[in-house]
Amino acid sequence: MLRREFAARLVAWQREHGRHRLPWQQTRDPYRVWLSEIMLQQTQVSTVLAYYERFLARFPDVVALADASLDEVLALWSGLGYYSRARNLHRCAQEVRDRHGGRFPPTAAGLAELPGIGRSTAAAVAAFCFGEKAAILDGNVKRVLGRVLAFEGDLSQARAERELWAHAEALLPDEGIDAYTQGLMDLGAGLCSVRSPTCLLCPVASLCRARALGQPERFPVKTRR
Ligand code: ADE
Repeated sequence: MLRREFAARLVAWQREHGRHRLPWQQTRDPYRVWLSEIMLQQTQVSTVLAYYERFLARFPDVVALADASLDEVLALWSGLGYYSRARNLHRCAQEVRDRHGGRFPPTAAGLAELPGIGRSTAAAVAAFCFGEKAAILDGNVKRVLGRVLAFEGDLSQARAERELWAHAEALLPDEGIDAYTQGLMDLGAGLCSVRSPTCLLCPVASLCRARALGQPERFPVKTRR
């Protein structure tokens, strides 16, 4: 069965070849995992590392962040870009403090209601921290799944995006959701690159429909940008 085989290979590959030593992988504290996911949204790992450590040194928990002034948060964010992320980060911390007693909601659905936490980020935090079987679908994962499925839908259209979300959910494994989720991210950030995917090293190459068609780069389809 494709779902089982896909997950089993991805999980085994992640455990053997994926990233395990990043600081936000050494914790299940939703504050730390959330902070890392927001920083990683538009910034590469090598840049995030130093910012992440500085943020945690100054704001060790979500209430410390909520209690800080926006100016101080923006100053610590300075250089990471996309400053709406920092504003939402601060607003989110204040909502967690004021409406959730200082604890992040323990489900993807609850997390997705907070400022700046989209569906995919909510799912990543819920999978990593609470082991929830929730689907992620960021830009890299759209590429991985779009290729594995040779998904012909045009992802500049909302309907195709909804369909791919449904596929992402249908592929979720019954166990190992954290390694599975990290494996999708690692594959998308590494081997399954936009222009020249390294299919020879890919753990799911033999299941990949785009590869079988001989043109992995053609997927996912996106006409408008
Ligand atoms: N990019 C987005 N989330 C990530 C994570 N958890 N680890 C590494 N890179 C990421």
